Amino acid sequence: MPEKYQEVQTQLKASPRTWLITGVAGFIGSNLLETLLKLDQKVIGLDNFSTGFQHNLDEVQSLVSPAQWQQFSFAKGDIRNLEDCARACAGVDYVLHEAALGSVPRSIADPITTNENNVSGFLNMLVAARDAKVTRFVYAASSSTYGDLPDLPKVEDKIGRPLSPYAVTKVVTELYMDVFARTYNFKAIGLRYFNIFGQRQDPNGAYAAVIPKWFAGLINDEPVFINGDGETSRDFCFIENCVQANLLAATAEDEAAANQIYNVAFGERTTLNELYQLIKQRVVAVKPAARDAQPQYRDFRAGDVRHSLADIAKAKELLGYQPQFSVKNGLDRAAEWYLR
Ligand SMILES: NC(=O)c1ccc[n+]([C@@H]2O[C@H](COP(=O)([O-])OP(=O)(O)OC[C@H]3O[C@@H](n4cnc5c(N)ncnc54)[C@H](O)[C@@H]3O)[C@@H](O)[C@H]2O)c1
Repeated sequence: MPEKYQEVQTQLKASPRTWLITGVAGFIGSNLLETLLKLDQKVIGLDNFSTGFQHNLDEVQSLVSPAQWQQFSFAKGDIRNLEDCARACAGVDYVLHEAALGSVPRSIADPITTNENNVSGFLNMLVAARDAKVTRFVYAASSSTYGDLPDLPKVEDKIGRPLSPYAVTKVVTELYMDVFARTYNFKAIGLRYFNIFGQRQDPNGAYAAVIPKWFAGLINDEPVFINGDGETSRDFCFIENCVQANLLAATAEDEAAANQIYNVAFGERTTLNELYQLIKQRVVAVKPAARDAQPQYRDFRAGDVRHSLADIAKAKELLGYQPQFSVKNGLDRAAEWYLR
């Protein structure tokens, strides 16, 4: 385990803190919950189950001890409601704000609902966390903020124009964070996630992400579609790296580390064609019949960025971030879960 991450875990175990995770029943939120409970932290969870599931919480319960589970209190609530946010923030040291509506195509189909959740909901959470005087507010920003900027790798201080309503909402969260820092002396950190994947990422529905969707397609003998020519690339990042970044960001004591935006990625580019082969190899290992499967190519998708690759030097330098899992190691772990 990277040195800084080990140090933070030891400190947290020695003196547990109170955390609020919004979007706790979702993919990233439930993984944050699992890690924090295993570190004997007290955790409050908020979710409205719009894209999250009770079964994610049930799975976390099965993975921690009864005493650790006792440290978790869940409130069904909605970040679009300021009172729900205020109630959840009471007595909290660190907020990990994950609740939002993901997916570029969903935002193109329904920009108003995406804006209500991702911008108005975000602002409610900022106000509630400010009023509750939390120590640090860490939130899920997005690599979509780089928009049409062609430069690779992406460096935090240079962004392009957003390519979707979803990307607009994530740019706005960063603007609000900056203004809250300067106006209210509020301590926040935005983590620009780059295509996070792993256990408990939902494989179902029209807006599922590519990795769970392809695992499910290959396992269930359903067609797997590649949008465009398959040479579109992404910096896929395993969930454990993302969890590490959150814990480091919440606890970073260096003043220079606060009120900053960080890329959270592995720092390598994989094309969709390569990704398909990596997933297929893992499925074929347990289901040889999948060997003959072929992807079906269709049109490029509106709003999609062509290439994405992060420069992760800033998170390494200021937070001590050291991603532990490569794409291949992460896919091995994800495969175990999807195949189960
Ligand atoms: N997964 C990725 O690759 C990725 C990449 C960039 C950014 N993000 C961001 O990370 C965060 C978490 O994403 P995820 O992949 O875990 O998605 P997810 O859909 O699995 O989780 C989001 C959770 O938030 C909850 N939620 C949504 N709106 C809410 C509301 N109004 N009130 C209360 N709860 C609400 C949902 O029910 C769900 O449990 C989101 O902010 C997303 O935009 C994710």
